[in-house]
Amino acid sequence: MPAELTMLLVVACTNWKRVMMVLTGRGKYSDPMEIPSNQAHVPSNLKTLNQYSIAEINHRLKNYFKFLFVREPFERLVSAYRNKFTLKYNSSFHKRFGTRIIRRYRKNATQDALINGADVKFKEFIDYLVDPATQRDGPLNEHWQTVYQLCHPCHIHYDMVGKYETLEEDANYILRLVGVGDSLHFPSYAKSTRTTDAMTAQFFSNISTQQQVQLYKLYKMDFLMFNYSIPSYLRLD
Ligand SMILES: *[C@@H]1O[C@H](CO)[C@@H](O)[C@H](O)[C@H]1NC(C)=O
Ligand SMILES: *[C@@H]1O[C@H](CO)[C@@H](O)[C@H](O)[C@H]1NC(C)=O
Ligand SMILES: *[C@@H]1O[C@H](CO)[C@@H](O)[C@H](O)[C@H]1NC(C)=O
Ligand SMILES: *[C@@H]1O[C@H](CO)[C@@H](O)[C@H](O)[C@H]1NC(C)=O
Repeated sequence: MPAELTMLLVVACTNWKRVMMVLTGRGKYSDPMEIPSNQAHVPSNLKTLNQYSIAEINHRLKNYFKFLFVREPFERLVSAYRNKFTLKYNSSFHKRFGTRIIRRYRKNATQDALINGADVKFKEFIDYLVDPATQRDGPLNEHWQTVYQLCHPCHIHYDMVGKYETLEEDANYILRLVGVGDSLHFPSYAKSTRTTDAMTAQFFSNISTQQQVQLYKLYKMDFLMFNYSIPSYLRLD
Protein backbone atom coordinates (compact mmCIF):
# COMPACT_ATOMS: atom_id res chain seq x y z
CA MET A 1 0.00 0.00 0.00
CA PRO A 2 1.44 3.36 -0.95
CA ALA A 3 1.17 5.18 2.31
CA GLU A 4 3.45 7.86 1.01
CA LEU A 5 0.92 9.81 -0.91
CA THR A 6 -0.57 13.11 0.00
CA MET A 7 -2.96 15.27 -1.92
CA LEU A 8 -4.85 18.47 -1.93
CA LEU A 9 -8.39 18.24 -3.08
CA VAL A 10 -9.59 21.00 -5.29
CA VAL A 11 -11.42 19.20 -8.04
CA ALA A 12 -12.92 15.73 -8.44
CA CYS A 13 -12.91 15.41 -4.67
CA THR A 14 -15.35 12.57 -4.31
CA ASN A 15 -13.53 10.16 -6.57
CA TRP A 16 -10.14 10.95 -5.08
CA LYS A 17 -11.55 10.39 -1.61
CA ARG A 18 -12.93 7.04 -2.73
CA VAL A 19 -9.53 6.06 -4.14
CA MET A 20 -7.77 7.13 -0.95
CA MET A 21 -10.24 5.15 1.13
CA VAL A 22 -9.46 2.03 -0.90
CA LEU A 23 -5.74 2.65 -0.38
CA THR A 24 -5.97 3.30 3.35
CA GLY A 25 -8.91 1.04 4.22
CA ARG A 26 -6.86 -2.08 5.00
CA GLY A 27 -8.85 -4.21 2.60
CA LYS A 28 -12.21 -2.88 3.64
CA TYR A 29 -12.89 -1.71 0.09
CA SER A 30 -11.48 -2.89 -3.21
CA ASP A 31 -13.53 -0.93 -5.73
CA PRO A 32 -13.77 2.86 -5.29
CA MET A 33 -17.25 2.92 -6.81
CA GLU A 34 -18.66 0.61 -4.13
CA ILE A 35 -18.23 3.53 -1.71
CA PRO A 36 -21.33 5.74 -1.64
CA SER A 37 -20.54 9.40 -2.19
CA ASN A 38 -21.86 10.43 1.25
CA GLN A 39 -19.50 7.89 2.84
CA ALA A 40 -16.61 9.41 0.91
CA HIS A 41 -17.38 12.75 2.51
CA VAL A 42 -17.50 11.58 6.12
CA PRO A 43 -14.57 13.56 7.55
CA SER A 44 -13.34 10.80 9.89
CA ASN A 45 -12.86 8.39 6.97
CA LEU A 46 -9.70 10.12 5.82
CA LYS A 47 -6.94 11.80 7.72
CA THR A 48 -5.89 15.27 6.60
CA LEU A 49 -2.53 16.93 7.01
CA ASN A 50 -3.68 19.25 9.79
CA GLN A 51 -4.45 16.25 11.99
CA TYR A 52 -0.73 15.50 12.29
CA SER A 53 1.90 17.16 14.44
CA ILE A 54 4.16 19.78 12.87
CA ALA A 55 7.02 17.26 12.69
CA GLU A 56 4.77 14.70 10.98
CA ILE A 57 3.49 17.33 8.56
CA ASN A 58 7.00 18.37 7.64
CA HIS A 59 8.03 14.76 7.18
CA ARG A 60 5.14 14.24 4.77
CA LEU A 61 5.74 17.46 2.86
CA LYS A 62 9.37 16.49 2.46
CA ASN A 63 9.11 12.81 1.61
CA TYR A 64 5.69 12.04 0.20
CA PHE A 65 4.59 12.21 -3.38
CA LYS A 66 2.51 15.36 -3.54
CA PHE A 67 0.07 16.22 -6.25
CA LEU A 68 -2.52 18.78 -7.08
CA PHE A 69 -5.34 18.82 -9.60
CA VAL A 70 -6.44 22.04 -11.21
CA ARG A 71 -9.20 23.06 -13.57
CA GLU A 72 -9.82 25.90 -15.99
CA PRO A 73 -10.63 28.69 -13.49
CA PHE A 74 -13.95 29.87 -14.94
CA GLU A 75 -15.25 26.35 -15.56
CA ARG A 76 -14.40 25.62 -11.95
CA LEU A 77 -16.26 28.76 -10.90
CA VAL A 78 -19.40 28.01 -12.92
CA SER A 79 -19.26 24.41 -11.72
CA ALA A 80 -19.10 25.61 -8.11
CA TYR A 81 -22.06 27.91 -8.70
CA ARG A 82 -24.11 25.16 -10.31
CA ASN A 83 -23.28 22.62 -7.60
CA LYS A 84 -23.72 24.80 -4.59
CA PHE A 85 -26.51 27.15 -5.62
CA THR A 86 -28.69 25.52 -8.26
CA LEU A 87 -28.98 21.99 -6.88
CA LYS A 88 -31.49 21.22 -4.18
CA TYR A 89 -29.88 18.21 -2.49
CA ASN A 90 -27.95 20.10 0.15
CA SER A 91 -29.16 23.47 1.27
CA SER A 92 -26.20 24.30 3.53
CA PHE A 93 -24.66 26.66 0.94
CA HIS A 94 -28.02 28.29 0.34
CA LYS A 95 -28.23 29.08 4.04
CA ARG A 96 -24.58 29.99 4.58
CA PHE A 97 -23.95 32.05 1.46
CA GLY A 98 -27.21 32.36 -0.47
CA THR A 99 -29.02 34.33 2.21
CA ARG A 100 -26.09 36.73 2.58
CA ILE A 101 -25.75 37.19 -1.18
CA ILE A 102 -29.44 37.90 -1.65
CA ARG A 103 -29.54 40.30 1.29
CA ARG A 104 -26.64 42.28 -0.16
CA TYR A 105 -27.23 42.20 -3.88
CA ARG A 106 -30.92 41.73 -4.58
CA LYS A 107 -33.23 44.67 -4.43
CA ASN A 108 -36.76 43.91 -3.26
CA ALA A 109 -35.94 40.31 -2.33
CA THR A 110 -38.91 38.28 -1.17
CA GLN A 111 -39.07 37.09 2.44
CA ASP A 112 -38.68 33.53 1.23
CA ALA A 113 -35.51 34.33 -0.72
CA LEU A 114 -34.05 36.17 2.28
CA ILE A 115 -34.69 33.22 4.58
CA ASN A 116 -33.78 30.32 2.31
CA GLY A 117 -31.24 31.80 -0.10
CA ALA A 118 -32.19 29.08 -2.52
CA ASP A 119 -32.31 30.91 -5.85
CA VAL A 120 -29.09 32.92 -6.12
CA LYS A 121 -28.57 34.10 -9.71
CA PHE A 122 -25.15 33.73 -11.31
CA LYS A 123 -24.97 37.51 -11.65
CA GLU A 124 -25.57 37.90 -7.90
CA PHE A 125 -22.91 35.33 -7.10
CA ILE A 126 -20.48 37.37 -9.22
CA ASP A 127 -21.60 40.62 -7.52
CA TYR A 128 -20.60 38.93 -4.27
CA LEU A 129 -17.24 37.64 -5.57
CA VAL A 130 -16.00 40.91 -7.02
CA ASP A 131 -17.19 43.07 -4.12
CA PRO A 132 -14.14 44.32 -2.18
CA ALA A 133 -16.22 43.86 1.00
CA THR A 134 -16.19 40.10 0.37
CA GLN A 135 -12.40 40.03 0.27
CA ARG A 136 -12.31 42.02 3.50
CA ASP A 137 -14.60 39.49 5.21
CA GLY A 138 -11.85 36.86 5.06
CA PRO A 139 -10.73 34.02 2.83
CA LEU A 140 -13.17 32.90 0.17
CA ASN A 141 -14.83 29.52 0.49
CA GLU A 142 -12.58 26.75 -0.80
CA HIS A 143 -14.85 26.05 -3.76
CA TRP A 144 -14.23 29.49 -5.27
CA GLN A 145 -11.00 30.55 -3.61
CA THR A 146 -8.15 30.74 -6.12
CA VAL A 147 -6.08 27.58 -6.28
CA TYR A 148 -2.88 29.48 -5.76
CA GLN A 149 -4.14 30.85 -2.44
CA LEU A 150 -5.63 27.54 -1.42
CA CYS A 151 -2.77 25.22 -2.30
CA HIS A 152 0.35 27.40 -2.14
CA PRO A 153 2.13 25.99 -5.19
CA CYS A 154 5.07 28.33 -4.60
CA HIS A 155 5.65 26.96 -1.11
CA ILE A 156 4.70 23.33 -1.49
CA HIS A 157 6.79 21.52 -4.05
CA TYR A 158 4.19 19.43 -5.80
CA ASP A 159 5.61 16.48 -7.68
CA MET A 160 2.79 16.70 -10.15
CA VAL A 161 0.04 19.07 -11.18
CA GLY A 162 -2.76 17.18 -12.89
CA LYS A 163 -5.59 18.70 -14.85
CA TYR A 164 -9.27 18.08 -14.56
CA GLU A 165 -9.43 18.29 -18.35
CA THR A 166 -7.34 15.10 -18.51
CA LEU A 167 -8.42 13.76 -15.15
CA GLU A 168 -8.58 10.02 -15.78
CA GLU A 169 -5.36 9.91 -17.72
CA ASP A 170 -3.45 12.00 -15.15
CA ALA A 171 -4.99 10.20 -12.17
CA ASN A 172 -4.16 6.76 -13.54
CA TYR A 173 -0.63 7.97 -14.25
CA ILE A 174 -0.29 8.83 -10.55
CA LEU A 175 -1.71 5.48 -9.46
CA ARG A 176 0.83 3.70 -11.70
CA LEU A 177 3.63 5.92 -10.45
CA VAL A 178 2.94 5.03 -6.82
CA GLY A 179 2.69 1.34 -7.68
CA VAL A 180 -1.01 0.54 -7.48
CA GLY A 181 -1.97 1.09 -11.10
CA ASP A 182 -2.48 -2.63 -11.77
CA SER A 183 -5.14 -3.14 -9.16
CA LEU A 184 -6.72 0.26 -8.97
CA HIS A 185 -8.14 2.52 -11.65
CA PHE A 186 -9.47 5.98 -11.20
CA PRO A 187 -13.26 5.83 -11.55
CA SER A 188 -14.61 7.09 -14.84
CA TYR A 189 -17.74 9.05 -14.40
CA ALA A 190 -20.71 10.33 -16.30
CA LYS A 191 -19.72 13.39 -18.27
CA SER A 192 -23.26 14.42 -19.06
CA THR A 193 -23.70 16.97 -16.30
CA ARG A 194 -20.17 18.32 -16.46
CA THR A 195 -19.73 22.07 -16.81
CA THR A 196 -18.28 22.70 -20.26
CA ASP A 197 -16.57 25.62 -21.93
CA ALA A 198 -19.72 26.34 -23.96
CA MET A 199 -21.83 26.35 -20.81
CA THR A 200 -19.36 28.64 -19.08
CA ALA A 201 -19.50 31.03 -22.06
CA GLN A 202 -23.29 31.17 -21.67
CA PHE A 203 -23.10 32.08 -18.02
CA PHE A 204 -20.51 34.74 -18.79
CA SER A 205 -22.62 36.22 -21.57
CA ASN A 206 -24.97 37.43 -18.83
CA ILE A 207 -22.46 39.45 -16.87
CA SER A 208 -21.13 42.88 -17.70
CA THR A 209 -17.80 43.59 -19.35
CA GLN A 210 -16.72 45.39 -16.19
CA GLN A 211 -17.41 42.33 -14.07
CA GLN A 212 -15.69 40.06 -16.57
CA VAL A 213 -12.59 42.22 -16.21
CA GLN A 214 -12.84 42.08 -12.43
CA LEU A 215 -13.27 38.31 -12.47
CA TYR A 216 -10.29 37.84 -14.73
CA LYS A 217 -8.21 39.95 -12.34
CA LEU A 218 -9.38 37.82 -9.43
CA TYR A 219 -8.41 34.54 -11.10
CA LYS A 220 -5.53 35.78 -13.24
CA MET A 221 -2.86 34.06 -11.18
CA ASP A 222 -4.58 30.69 -11.61
CA PHE A 223 -4.77 31.25 -15.38
CA LEU A 224 -1.08 32.10 -15.54
CA MET A 225 0.29 29.56 -13.08
CA PHE A 226 -1.55 26.61 -14.54
CA ASN A 227 -1.20 27.58 -18.16
CA TYR A 228 -4.80 28.22 -19.08
CA SER A 229 -5.38 30.65 -21.91
CA ILE A 230 -7.81 33.54 -21.70
CA PRO A 231 -11.19 32.18 -22.81
CA SER A 232 -12.26 33.38 -26.24
CA TYR A 233 -15.68 34.46 -24.94
CA LEU A 234 -14.18 36.82 -22.36
CA ARG A 235 -14.69 40.54 -22.98
CA LEU A 236 -11.76 42.42 -21.57
CA ASP A 237 -12.12 45.85 -23.13
C1 LIG B 1 -24.09 19.64 3.20
O1 LIG B 1 -22.86 20.26 2.89
C2 LIG B 1 -22.14 20.71 4.01
C3 LIG B 1 -20.94 21.49 3.53
O2 LIG B 1 -20.30 20.90 2.44
C4 LIG B 1 -21.76 19.50 4.87
O3 LIG B 1 -21.02 19.92 6.00
C5 LIG B 1 -23.04 18.78 5.30
O4 LIG B 1 -22.69 17.61 5.99
C6 LIG B 1 -23.89 18.42 4.08
N1 LIG B 1 -25.16 17.90 4.52
C7 LIG B 1 -25.69 16.79 3.98
C8 LIG B 1 -27.01 16.39 4.54
O5 LIG B 1 -25.15 16.15 3.08
C1 LIG C 1 -38.90 47.68 -5.49
O1 LIG C 1 -40.28 47.81 -5.10
C2 LIG C 1 -40.77 49.13 -5.13
C3 LIG C 1 -42.18 49.11 -4.56
O2 LIG C 1 -42.91 48.03 -5.01
C4 LIG C 1 -40.74 49.63 -6.57
O3 LIG C 1 -41.17 50.95 -6.63
C5 LIG C 1 -39.29 49.56 -7.10
O4 LIG C 1 -39.24 49.92 -8.45
C6 LIG C 1 -38.75 48.14 -6.92
N1 LIG C 1 -37.33 48.14 -7.27
C7 LIG C 1 -36.79 47.22 -8.04
C8 LIG C 1 -35.32 47.33 -8.31
O5 LIG C 1 -37.41 46.29 -8.53
C1 LIG D 1 -29.16 34.98 -18.56
O1 LIG D 1 -30.09 35.99 -18.28
C2 LIG D 1 -31.40 35.74 -18.75
C3 LIG D 1 -32.26 36.96 -18.54
O2 LIG D 1 -32.10 37.48 -17.24
C4 LIG D 1 -31.95 34.51 -18.03
O3 LIG D 1 -33.23 34.19 -18.48
C5 LIG D 1 -31.00 33.33 -18.28
O4 LIG D 1 -31.43 32.21 -17.52
C6 LIG D 1 -29.60 33.69 -17.91
N1 LIG D 1 -28.70 32.60 -18.34
C7 LIG D 1 -27.79 32.09 -17.55
C8 LIG D 1 -26.97 30.99 -18.13
O5 LIG D 1 -27.59 32.51 -16.41
C1 LIG E 1 0.77 25.48 -22.06
O1 LIG E 1 -0.32 25.44 -22.96
C2 LIG E 1 0.03 25.38 -24.30
C3 LIG E 1 -1.22 25.53 -25.14
O2 LIG E 1 -2.32 24.85 -24.58
C4 LIG E 1 0.80 24.10 -24.58
O3 LIG E 1 1.18 24.03 -25.94
C5 LIG E 1 2.04 24.09 -23.68
O4 LIG E 1 2.73 22.86 -23.83
C6 LIG E 1 1.66 24.26 -22.23
N1 LIG E 1 2.85 24.42 -21.42
C7 LIG E 1 3.03 23.75 -20.27
C8 LIG E 1 4.30 24.03 -19.53
O5 LIG E 1 2.22 22.93 -19.87
